[in-house]
Amino acid sequence: MEAILETKQLTHTYSAGTPFERSALQEVNFSAYAGEYLGIIGHTGSGKSTLIQHLNGLLKPTSGQVLFQGEDIWSDPKRTRRTRFQVGLVFQYPEYQLFEETVYKDIAFGPKNMGLDEQEIDRRVHEAAYFVGLRDDQLNKSPFELSGGQKRRVAIAGVIAMEPKVLILDEPTAGLDPVGVESILGNIRDYHQAHNATIILVSHSMEEVARTVDRLVVVNDGKIPFHGTPREVFCHGAELEAMGLGVPQMTRVFHRLKAMGVDIDPSVYTIEQAKAALLAKLGKGEL
Ligand SMILES: Nc1ncnc2c1ncn2[C@@H]1O[C@H](COP(=O)(O)OP(=O)(O)O)[C@@H](O)[C@H]1O
Ligand SMILES: [Mg+2]
Repeated sequence: MEAILETKQLTHTYSAGTPFERSALQEVNFSAYAGEYLGIIGHTGSGKSTLIQHLNGLLKPTSGQVLFQGEDIWSDPKRTRRTRFQVGLVFQYPEYQLFEETVYKDIAFGPKNMGLDEQEIDRRVHEAAYFVGLRDDQLNKSPFELSGGQKRRVAIAGVIAMEPKVLILDEPTAGLDPVGVESILGNIRDYHQAHNATIILVSHSMEEVARTVDRLVVVNDGKIPFHGTPREVFCHGAELEAMGLGVPQMTRVFHRLKAMGVDIDPSVYTIEQAKAALLAKLGKGEL
């Protein structure tokens, strides 16, 4: 598979040379592949937001490179601008950045900036609204008349309307109730499938990413200690615990069973996998 986004030896230091200097990323080599659904996981302050803000050129590396489709995004201003349109970033708590008088105008803001014609903008606003589950009659409302969860949908729609090749979402489910979480994750999955886009989902919840993503990148203390499929990542149980990242509950139960002497593969992470593994054991009369 071809890497659509890459960082090479990416280092970022906030307020370098001042008493507030803070090293946030150290020589990070990161890749995202075209069409994959990637998770970035790490606890608060590990460097997740700093990393993703480099991927669309919002932050400039202190040293190292960011490549989009194989080219350095900072090599010329046209390329930086193109990257900002093609790598869409939904900030954490994006609902606080709505500012237009109507939901429609808020969603249309990005496509308008891209210089698209009215008809194309209109098509994109309706399609993006549909993806995030907003009804047509909500488009003419003020964003401030909507609930918190609906406002967040408007903000996500605003980025989707730019039809980015890569859609990055920084903790999009933070602060939502379980129904809201499922619904937003479902919208993202639908968008991924319909557009064959690359999705990068940032999260601090293992349970959430375990059942959502194809591949996981772990961020800890400004570095990427390991990455891989969820199954591969959860094999590092003790290291994850040490980073303050719990492994999913099912994985923990299976590790416990193994420690108790049950001959079982502990690399399960969903209830479905656990059920299949336990039924197989029962079938063989081993439990
Ligand atoms: N604007 C900033 N100025 C100074 N330090 C910052 C700034 N933003 C983040 N940091 C620091 O950089 C580190 C990484 O932060 P961040 O990328 O926001 O982590 P995460 O998204 O994983 O919570 C933290 O120590 C944080 O305090
Ligand atoms: Mg963050």
